[in-house]
Amino acid sequence: MSTYKAINLIKHNEGKVGPELFEVVEKTVPEPADGEFLIKQTYMSLDPAMMGWMTSDTDSYIPRVELGTVMRSSGIGEVVASNNADFAVGDQVMGMFGWQEMVLTDGAGVSKVDKALQPEMALSVFALPGLTATQGLYSCGHPEAGETLVVSGAAGSVGSIVGQLAKADGLRVIGVVGTDEKANWIVNDLGFDGAVNYKTDDLGAKLNELAPEGIDVYFENTGGPIQNAVFERMNAHGRIVVCGMIADYASANPSPGPNWMRIIKKRLSIQGFTMPDHMHKAQELRAKLAPYVQNGQVKYRAHVLEGLESAMNGLTLFLTGENKGKLMVKL
Ligand SMILES: NC(=O)c1ccc[n+]([C@@H]2O[C@H](COP(=O)([O-])OP(=O)(O)OC[C@H]3O[C@@H](n4cnc5c(N)ncnc54)[C@H](OP(=O)(O)O)[C@@H]3O)[C@@H](O)[C@H]2O)c1
Repeated sequence: MSTYKAINLIKHNEGKVGPELFEVVEKTVPEPADGEFLIKQTYMSLDPAMMGWMTSDTDSYIPRVELGTVMRSSGIGEVVASNNADFAVGDQVMGMFGWQEMVLTDGAGVSKVDKALQPEMALSVFALPGLTATQGLYSCGHPEAGETLVVSGAAGSVGSIVGQLAKADGLRVIGVVGTDEKANWIVNDLGFDGAVNYKTDDLGAKLNELAPEGIDVYFENTGGPIQNAVFERMNAHGRIVVCGMIADYASANPSPGPNWMRIIKKRLSIQGFTMPDHMHKAQELRAKLAPYVQNGQVKYRAHVLEGLESAMNGLTLFLTGENKGKLMVKL
């Protein structure tokens, strides 16, 4: 009887996200019943939001992961056995498959992915990162050619796509990153107009130099000191898109936000959003994104870890900034 491995969450995250929060279990490969099919997962996506799903907090935008259950994640895989008329052996599929090598499903929440699309590209561009970038930039940021956009987490999977879309639309684009290697990548390979290294540059002085006309759109992926420095430089009628606050995900004392006076003085709009509210628009968002990708205006890089168990240490790379591009696990 053949078996496969899965990883359960056994402890809630209280700031540290290491292997001690998980247990690896071995399960028997099931036979699909009528209407079911079996997926061999090939790539699992790792996302900063997972750190929030692992906490004991019950007051968030989606339910937490309960202890003793398989850790939640999205992924891509191949159908290897099927008793479902809509899914055939060999189909490439995507869904919330969790940290496990095999997935038995009736097809709810599973979508087919063109086999011509490489899994790394599918997860890096056409899954959560690209959907998030497209939804946030256009529905909340309302970018206009000639404006200046600043994006934090700019070399990350969401931030790099936001910056490239804005650049392609004729904005001046400045990215905030944590290493010189990432600064070089977004400027020299992706075509950003400038980069700020928030760890080594004087944030305010560098923003003044790179955005002398002020900032019209801020795509917020990080929070922390970057938030205040950008906020103070927002132009009248500026838009702030609040996508993520990774600087606070592992912090016992979240950083204080800026004073609201400037929101009045500059008539700012500040809009938070989460993708689960917008997943019904996934096809529409992909259709918006696709031409930019086809025209070579959106590039990506994938940071691939090997083997199921590598996921247990993988999430820490988000906090140290060691991930270079979309973080995922190859199974
Ligand atoms: N609202 C939504 O629906 C939604 C959906 C997807 C993602 N998100 C959010 O979007 C953000 C980016 O996600 P992603 O998947 O694209 O991750 P990512 O940017 O690929 O990886 C996270 C990056 O954050 C940076 N970072 C870590 N700690 C930081 C700190 N204290 N200050 C500033 N930067 C820090 C690191 O890069 P550096 O080396 O540059 O520091 C790290 O590589 C996250 O906050 C995530 O939660 C939101």
